[in-house]
Amino acid sequence: MRHEWSNRLTFILAAVGSAVGLGNIWKFPYITGEYGGGVFIFAYLICICLIGLPIMLAEIALGRRGKQSPVNTMLQLSLEAGSHPSWSLLGWSGMAAGCLILSYYSVIAGEVMAYSFRAGSGMFNQQTVDGVKGILTTLVSDPEKLLAWHTLFMGVTVIAVAKGVRGGIEKTISFVMPALFVLLVVLVFYAMNSGGFEQAIDFMFTPDADKFFYARDQLGQYLMDAEGEKIFTWKPMMVAMGHAFFTLSLGMGAIMMYGSYLNRYVSIGQMALIIVSLDTVVALLAGLAIFPLVFANGLDPAAGPGLIFESLPIAFGNMAGGRLIGTLFFVLLFFAAWTSAISLMEPTVAWLTESKKMHRVKATVWTGTVIWFIGLASIFSFSGTTLGDILRILFSWFGLEYLELNHWFFKQSLFIIIDFLTASIMLPVGGLLIAIFAGWVMERDSTEREFSFNNRYVYPVWSVMVRYVTPFLVFIVFLNISGIFKF
Ligand code: PHE
Repeated sequence: MRHEWSNRLTFILAAVGSAVGLGNIWKFPYITGEYGGGVFIFAYLICICLIGLPIMLAEIALGRRGKQSPVNTMLQLSLEAGSHPSWSLLGWSGMAAGCLILSYYSVIAGEVMAYSFRAGSGMFNQQTVDGVKGILTTLVSDPEKLLAWHTLFMGVTVIAVAKGVRGGIEKTISFVMPALFVLLVVLVFYAMNSGGFEQAIDFMFTPDADKFFYARDQLGQYLMDAEGEKIFTWKPMMVAMGHAFFTLSLGMGAIMMYGSYLNRYVSIGQMALIIVSLDTVVALLAGLAIFPLVFANGLDPAAGPGLIFESLPIAFGNMAGGRLIGTLFFVLLFFAAWTSAISLMEPTVAWLTESKKMHRVKATVWTGTVIWFIGLASIFSFSGTTLGDILRILFSWFGLEYLELNHWFFKQSLFIIIDFLTASIMLPVGGLLIAIFAGWVMERDSTEREFSFNNRYVYPVWSVMVRYVTPFLVFIVFLNISGIFKF
């Protein structure tokens, strides 16, 4: 028989474990920094409430009704609703997105592991800004080291997934999340006295629409077109919406998968609200901890994926007890990443065991190996390899001449391309289809039944959101997609 979560607390723990991860503490600060602060956070929060929350409800409800991996859940529910079985493609694109995301997630989580050792060895003690930057550069420009950490992280993820959902996730999360929360609060207090707090608050909460809507170069200068006008870009909007999906683990079936282990007597609305609130609070705390350090130490908020690795060690290196706190922080962040990684892999592994009748251990090892390989792309990205560089090498292997393509696309790294493709395109498209399916394709009776344990206002509000508001908003963002190709 298929097991269910022992109680509703364990579901919350697992779902929060999936949602809270590198997305909140590593990604949220650096994309906020890259896209100018205030307006970005505003756009992100709107997306969380109007898009994320309704889709979270939909995914939990679909999962609980289908009781299988996302592919088979979609297949069954579409047949049940008398619709086309191709809805199961949603599950397929979710599995692809999950594997692609995990490929770089694992590399960053590997860096986090490396940093817990660096913090523990006292390497950050009394470090200057340049010293800390040097430590990061040394790590990311050494592909072998990154590879070793990536391999280790994939290894522990495979072990956890192979053991099955009950194998300890619940216990891990119940101590990791509170402890991580406490450490973040400690860091925010430290940051308050760092001298950069006011500037950080200003940056995070004062809207500056220009910085959000107009393209800027690496130095933060606005790009100009031939007429000397600033160039409009829609990319930050796509990134903000994409991040709402990413941080809540939506649009790829992770939450659907966890919902499938949920028993019938639990209020979905309450669950979703708790998960979304906790996730958002953790992200905002991470921002409040990191940006003051960034400003106080003259770092660049738009430094990119290295932002937390450049800013936090300065704090750990200079605060009382920083060696212990720093080590603990990175260890906890590793655990948070681990519980998210497990949920990224689970839909694929569940599908392989259900439909291909593969043994769970074999399914996990196979999936892990494929993802490990894709991860190599990100490892080389961090040491500066672009898509153009890779094409040049591939061409030369086949004895062909590579004509330099000058479009900006070819100057991006595979990490940037994979991240944008998954977080900003695949997850929102997946989420849009989930909303349409739950709102329009499924019969009202069957969705309403999933909500019957809720307060009676939840269902009507949700159904208007998921039918009209959410799809409309996602659609609007996509409608302007051409706005990102303008430069
Ligand atoms: N939500 C996780 C994070 O914020 C990442 C994730 C995305 C996990 C998609 C599962 C599915 O780190």
